[in-house]
Amino acid sequence: MPPIQRFYRQHLKPYLPGALAGAFLFTLGNSVQAMILVALKLMFDVQFKMGGNVSQLPGPLQKLASLLPDPKIIQNNLLFIPGLIALFFFLRGLLVYGGTVLVARSGMKAVRDLRERLFGKLLSQDPVYFQKHPVGELMNRVLGDVGVVQQLASNQVSEILKQITMALVMVVYIIQKDWKLALGLLFLFPLVFLPVKTLSKLIRKQGHKAQGGADQLLQRMKEVLSNMRVVKAFAREDYETKRFKDQGHGLYRLGMRVVRIQGLSSPIMESVGGLLLAALALYGAYRINAGVMTGGDFLVFLLAIYQLYDPIRTLTKIYGEMQLSTVSLERIYDLLDTEPSLTAPKDPKPVPQTPSQLIFEDVHFSYDEKHPVLRGIDLEVRRGETVALVGGSGGGKTTLVNLVPRFFDPTQGRITVDGIDLRDFDPRQLRMRIGIVTQETLLFMDTVHDNIAYGIQASRESVEAAAKRAHAHDFIAALPKGYDTPLAETGSSLSGGQRQRIAIARALLQDPPILILDEATSALDTESERAVQAALEALMQDRTTLVIAHRLSTIQRATRICAMKHGRIVEVGTHSELLAKNGEYARLHSMQFAEA
Ligand SMILES: Nc1ncnc2c1ncn2[C@@H]1O[C@H](COP(=O)(O)OP(=O)(O)O)[C@@H](O)[C@H]1O
Ligand SMILES: [Mg+2]
Repeated sequence: MPPIQRFYRQHLKPYLPGALAGAFLFTLGNSVQAMILVALKLMFDVQFKMGGNVSQLPGPLQKLASLLPDPKIIQNNLLFIPGLIALFFFLRGLLVYGGTVLVARSGMKAVRDLRERLFGKLLSQDPVYFQKHPVGELMNRVLGDVGVVQQLASNQVSEILKQITMALVMVVYIIQKDWKLALGLLFLFPLVFLPVKTLSKLIRKQGHKAQGGADQLLQRMKEVLSNMRVVKAFAREDYETKRFKDQGHGLYRLGMRVVRIQGLSSPIMESVGGLLLAALALYGAYRINAGVMTGGDFLVFLLAIYQLYDPIRTLTKIYGEMQLSTVSLERIYDLLDTEPSLTAPKDPKPVPQTPSQLIFEDVHFSYDEKHPVLRGIDLEVRRGETVALVGGSGGGKTTLVNLVPRFFDPTQGRITVDGIDLRDFDPRQLRMRIGIVTQETLLFMDTVHDNIAYGIQASRESVEAAAKRAHAHDFIAALPKGYDTPLAETGSSLSGGQRQRIAIARALLQDPPILILDEATSALDTESERAVQAALEALMQDRTTLVIAHRLSTIQRATRICAMKHGRIVEVGTHSELLAKNGEYARLHSMQFAEA
C-alpha cells in the first residue's frame, strides 16, 4: 500500500468526520467564490448595461434576482453589487478559516497518534536494533519525519481539499456554461500530469538521501553534545565546527537538489497556463465577434477558467511537496513494521518469584557469524550464591551476563531459571526479576527520589530505606533539597561514586531476586569504591548474583570465581583454591598485586 494511502487508512480515517466537515466548509466557501463571479457578471451586464437589463438575464439568474425585494436595485443602487462582493469575500474568508482549522485538527490528531505509536514501537525494540540505528536517526524519525508528515496532515490536506473543492465548483460552473469547452480542457491533464509524475520519482529519491543526511547531522550533534568534555579537554571546538559545517553543507546541497526538482513544476505549469490563456483569447474573440457571447460572459468565463487552473497549479505544487511526506512516511512505517526479534512466546510461563537456580548449559553466542564470542559456557548459580567472572577484557564477560535478561539469545545451548528455558518467559516479566548495576550509571533529569524510584510509586520511607542500605542517604540528605533535589542531565552534578550508589539504591528498591553487577566499582576511586562495595554487599544479600569485577579485591568472598578467556570458562574455584592452582586467576591476581 502506498504510504500516503496507508497513513490515510490507519491514522487519518478515525478523524475523517472533522476533515469532512472542514471540506464542507471549503465547498461552501468556494461556492461563495462562484457567487462572486455571478455578482461580477451582474455588475458588467446589468449595472454597466453591457448586456441589457434584469429581464434579459438567463433563467437561473433571473430566478435569483427575483428573490430580491426589488430586482431593479441591481441597476439602480450603485452600492448594491460592490457591497455584495465585499460581503461575499468576507464570508468566504470565514468559511475557509473554519475549514482550515477543522481539517488541520484532524490531521494534527492523526499525527499525534502516529508519534505515540512510533515511540511505543521504538521502546519495544531489542538492544540489537539500537546498535544498528544510531540515536540521531531515531530522533529524526520520531521528530523530523513526523514533523514533515504533520505538514502534510495539517496544511497540505486542507490545501488539497480547498483546491479540489474549488476546482469542482468551477468545473460545474464551466460545464453548465459551455460543456464543449469543458471537454476540450480535459486535454490539459496528461500535459500536466505526465511530467509531474516523473519529477515526483526524482524528488522521492533525493528526499531519502536528504533525510539520511539529516540523520547524520543529528547524530553528530548528539555525539558532540554528549561528549562535550572530550571536545573541551582536547580543545577540538574548531575541528568539530568544521565537521559540522561540512556535513551541514552536504545537507544543504541535498536540500537544494530537492528544491530544484520540485521547482521544475513551475515552468511546466506556467507554460501550459500560457498556452491555455492564448487559446482561450482566440476562442473568446471568435465567440464575441459571432455575437454568441457578451463581454461580461467572456470575462467571467476567463476568471472561472483561471480559478480552475489555479487549483490545478497549486495541486501539482503540493503533489511535489507530498513526495517528501511520502519519504518520511516510508521511513516511519519502516520503523513501525520492524518487529522485535526477541518476542514473548504465545503462552509465556510465569517467572518464579524467588528462583532457586540459574543455569547456563553449553551456551554459545556470537554477534556476527564469523566471530564466536562465547564458546560453550556451563555455569550454575544457586540462590544466595555470588559467582564472580574475571578475565582480561574482550573475554566475553559482559556478553555472558547480558544473555540473562535476554538482551540477546544464545546462538546455541540454553539458559534456564528453575529448569525453564529463558525463551519460555515474557522478556519483560523476566527483566523485572533482574537487577543490573553497570559501570556507567544512567540517571534521568529528575529528582533524586524519582531516580531511585524510577517509574514506580514508592513512598519516601522506602526510598530512604533503600538509600540508607546503599550508603547514599548521608550525601543525599546533604544536597540542597535532599531527596527532592533535581539532578542535572544524567546526574552530572554528582560524583561517580554518588551516582553509582543511587543506581544501587534503585536496584535495592526493585528488590530483584537475580542481580548482575558488571564492573560496578571499576570507574571509582578507592575511597568511593569502599562505600560502593559496602552498598553492593548489602545488595547481594540473599540474591542470586553474577558479578564481574575488574578489581579482584572486591570478589574474594564470592562463592565461586570463574576465570574467562576467549569465550570459555577456563578455571572455577574459590579465591584461595584458584590462587593455589597458580593458573589464569593467579596470573591476573599477581598482575594487580604488582600494580598496587
Ligand atoms: N554489541 C556488540 N557487537 C559486536 N561485537 C561485540 C559487541 N559487544 C562486544 N562485542 C565483542 O565481543 C567480545 C566480548 O566482549 P565483552 O563481552 O564486552 O567482553 P568483556 O566484558 O569480557 O570485556 C569482544 O571481542 C567485543 O569486541
Ligand atoms: Mg565488559
